[in-house]
Amino acid sequence: MAASGRLACGDMAAVDAVAARLAARLRPGDAVLLAGAIGSGKTRFVAALAGAMGSGDRVTSPTYTLMHVYETPAGRLLHLDAYRLSGVDEYRDLGVEDLAPEAVTLVEWGDRVAAAHPEHLLIRLTHIPESETARTLVLAGAGPRWDGVVADLAAPG
Ligand SMILES: Nc1ncnc2c1ncn2[C@@H]1O[C@H](COP(=O)(O)OP(=O)(O)OP(=O)(O)O)[C@@H](O)[C@H]1O
Ligand SMILES: [Mg+2]
Repeated sequence: MAASGRLACGDMAAVDAVAARLAARLRPGDAVLLAGAIGSGKTRFVAALAGAMGSGDRVTSPTYTLMHVYETPAGRLLHLDAYRLSGVDEYRDLGVEDLAPEAVTLVEWGDRVAAAHPEHLLIRLTHIPESETARTLVLAGAGPRWDGVVADLAAPG
């Protein structure tokens, strides 16, 4: 059974709460790929997740810097953005595969480089036209690692 789920978040706090619940389940070696249109809230999701892991750092977009590293009390976070990359080869050239086993890897526009993370959790954020703040989050786990995580996140509460 493929692990998948859909979460309706009425406002930014609800999205942040999903990020915090996910943060509690993550461990080194995990890759979370964030997809969704410009402004859908990918960077915001990473900021909420890093905050939930105890990071005091300000999380900014790595669109131009390509990779940020945050050392949190709950472990290292790699924050990447594939938007400006030509593809998975250029992504691999950043050295992610050497660093990823020791860290949680979060990739904006990560659906473009999924080939570099055969086991991953894909989260697609969709902006709802009727609301400035509401988002739909569609979760899809690739690999058995994510079955329980997706089931927990998709469960109410
Ligand atoms: N659910 C939300 N409700 C209201 N504002 C939000 C929400 N999520 C994000 N924002 C705000 O929208 C702006 C864009 O969000 P963010 O930078 O996270 O988008 P992004 O998906 O990372 O965009 P990009 O594709 O450019 O990287 C930010 O100012 C952010 O604070
Ligand atoms: Mg962003």
